[in-house]
Amino acid sequence: MKIGILSSGGDCPGINATIRGVGKTAIMHYNMEIIGIHSGFSGILNKDVEPLNERSLSGILNLGGTILGTSREKTFRKQIADDEGQASIIKQSYDELGLDCIVCIGGNGTQKTAHLLSEIGLNIIGVPKTIDNDVWGTDITFGFDTAVNIATEAIDRLHSTASSHKRVMVVEVMGHKAGWIALYAGMAGGADVILLPELGYDIDKVNAAILDRAKRGKPYSIVVVAEGIDVPNKRNRPADFITKTIEEATGIETRETVLGYTQRGGNPSPYDRNLATRLGGHATELIANKQFGRMVCMKGDKVDAIPLSEVAGRLKTVTPEHDLIIQGERMGITFG
Ligand code: F6P
Repeated sequence: MKIGILSSGGDCPGINATIRGVGKTAIMHYNMEIIGIHSGFSGILNKDVEPLNERSLSGILNLGGTILGTSREKTFRKQIADDEGQASIIKQSYDELGLDCIVCIGGNGTQKTAHLLSEIGLNIIGVPKTIDNDVWGTDITFGFDTAVNIATEAIDRLHSTASSHKRVMVVEVMGHKAGWIALYAGMAGGADVILLPELGYDIDKVNAAILDRAKRGKPYSIVVVAEGIDVPNKRNRPADFITKTIEEATGIETRETVLGYTQRGGNPSPYDRNLATRLGGHATELIANKQFGRMVCMKGDKVDAIPLSEVAGRLKTVTPEHDLIIQGERMGITFG
């Protein structure tokens, strides 16, 4: 069989480990051929591809980013959804490349497009990836653990400077519309206030919590905010709004840090390397068994797969019943 593999959407640590997991399993265990498709879905149309072999798959396990390149695929998805002609051009490209399957590594948007391609008759396997951990149908995505490590280290570092200056430190983390990174890094970093898009917040309660800490002899506070929380002016960064509001209301000097793309650049953690390797290997196993139209996933500590039709268009968000939230509340952490 001949497998095509692509990465699409925002990059994240662990994509190369997945490419290696899929590719080495295909070549060494199943004697399949594998080609890398460049720059996401557009690479199928442009036939921008390269053959992958044991050599090109070596030395990439610990490498951040993606050796295949990536792009946001919204226009591509819209075109296939709206235009039957476009769908037949893609099928033609797939046939001309001689593909038996395409492995699509990506987040929610990618899995939606993967589902569309599967609906128009292509053999597709999805592999979930994102630092946001918000892909429906899998307990965890690779990239998340690495991002949480980076954000936690940043929060750890902010403690000492916050304490020296008796300041409030507001840290904004990524996560798109989900609060997974904020929750996990906030709890691991010992934050005093954690604001998640899923829970909403009352700014007066946040200010009161900070003043209350000061009264109890704790002159500094760490506030972790997810980038997806609501702020009055959508063009404002959540960190800007929260920082200004806290300083005005409490009179305590307040500073902000936006971690941004540092959270998704660089090497994957050992956990993410192994997760990516397991998901990649399972993707190839599904192809060997001709079980297409599925996304590989984790259920507890087991590798599994779920139909793409169940994943497409859904988001996995934090629920108020999450035990880290319940535990945090019991320990006096304010969730807004
Ligand atoms: O989905 C991953 C992510 O890093 C989000 O956390 C963030 O909102 C978004 O991508 C940024 O996307 P872009 O690469 O398009 O700036």
